[in-house]
Amino acid sequence: MSSNKIWTGNMTFILAAAGSAVGLGNIWKFPYMVGSNGGSAFVIIYLICILAIGFPVMVSEILIGKYARKSPINSLVRIIQEFKLNLSWKFLGVLGALAGVIILSYYSVFAGMAFSYIFKVFPQGLENPSQYSSDYFNDLSASPINLIFWHTLFIVITSIIVGIGVVKGIGRSVNILMPFLFFFIILISIYSSFIGDLETTISFLFKPDFSVITPQIVISAMGQAFFSLSIGMGAIMAYGAYMPEKQMIGKTVVTIIFLDTFVALAAGIAIFPVVFSNPSLEITAGPGLIFETLPVAFYTLPYGSLFSIIFFVLISIAALSSSISLLEPFTAWIEESKKLNRFSIVIILSIFVWILGLGSIFSFNIWSEVKFFGLNFLGLLDYFTNNIMLPIGGFLVAILIGWVMPKNFLKEKLKLRKCLFEVFYFSLRYIAPSSIALIFLYSVF
Ligand code: PHE
Repeated sequence: MSSNKIWTGNMTFILAAAGSAVGLGNIWKFPYMVGSNGGSAFVIIYLICILAIGFPVMVSEILIGKYARKSPINSLVRIIQEFKLNLSWKFLGVLGALAGVIILSYYSVFAGMAFSYIFKVFPQGLENPSQYSSDYFNDLSASPINLIFWHTLFIVITSIIVGIGVVKGIGRSVNILMPFLFFFIILISIYSSFIGDLETTISFLFKPDFSVITPQIVISAMGQAFFSLSIGMGAIMAYGAYMPEKQMIGKTVVTIIFLDTFVALAAGIAIFPVVFSNPSLEITAGPGLIFETLPVAFYTLPYGSLFSIIFFVLISIAALSSSISLLEPFTAWIEESKKLNRFSIVIILSIFVWILGLGSIFSFNIWSEVKFFGLNFLGLLDYFTNNIMLPIGGFLVAILIGWVMPKNFLKEKLKLRKCLFEVFYFSLRYIAPSSIALIFLYSVF
């Protein structure tokens, strides 16, 4: 790869990786998962997974990309060749690239919904805004045509950015968006805390209640940690290939993880106070939670419709900076084979993603009764990717970097202080893989 495909400045890498990590996973998914999975127990397990599994796996992924400077699959191939490893390690990259396009298929359905809310202004003088909001969400999800329209629009925009290429398309856009988003989410959480029930929110989110823990909650919290950090599928590995040579991986990962966790918790604090103070809103509302709740908060806010527009624009852009990283690993891999140009690859992949997305759209309406293992099509894809594919990807990365690659290689590349390196190495070799394996076993038996 030529050096013109490396981002200039440390900040661009951080913003791009944080742009990938911070997305619907934080603002849309984290609150509803917490709401449906018993609150604090989920939050605490989630935070433990972020530290014990997320940190070492993210460092390892970036290391692979930065060292080999290729798409995730070809970076693995390069490492296989240089270190004379078994060829089947390539499977790890293929699994990840596939997970990316599968996730994108339903991600874009929800991102499309966020788009549609940019154009939705609630009429003045409503007697029961919460009821109005729930009804509006139910109408939107009952209409396949509407959802298909927004899903299509989102995929087209994602494809254009990925088609333009990572350095130009991705590097620039995140520089503007991310700071804006942070500012806004803080503002809204402060406002919600004032108008809603902050006390109940804080005890719901942080007061430990381990009596509610079930295997299902544990595996969902781990899956959410993988999803939210964009690890286990090569997204961050793909960006690692564009990281400036001098940038330090360890420090960068700490920043990304901090930003990601901060936005997720802030989203919780933006949403729950409103839910707890409105009897017609349910914390267990599931995927519709933010769409039913936030408009109610905005409704009572002076200049609320303006804030609502800005907020949904920001969520949509946050979703875009994540969706491009879902499509990038597969695209970059095929591009390197030099058989097709970037735009043609993106078009072919997007058509596949679009068709698969229809299944998720129909899960809200015409297929809502079609169940596989008790889940609808959307639920099945979500469960399979987050709770199975990403953790397997993370497990294999930990084994590859922690057990197969020489320790000296890592030491030399990471340049961490000795004690920090030992902590990292121990968690990579022992804590991360054994926790993933134990959580799997716990949830199966
Ligand atoms: N982390 C993104 C989010 O929170 C989603 C994502 C998952 C992006 C996996 C890339 C890879 O919205």
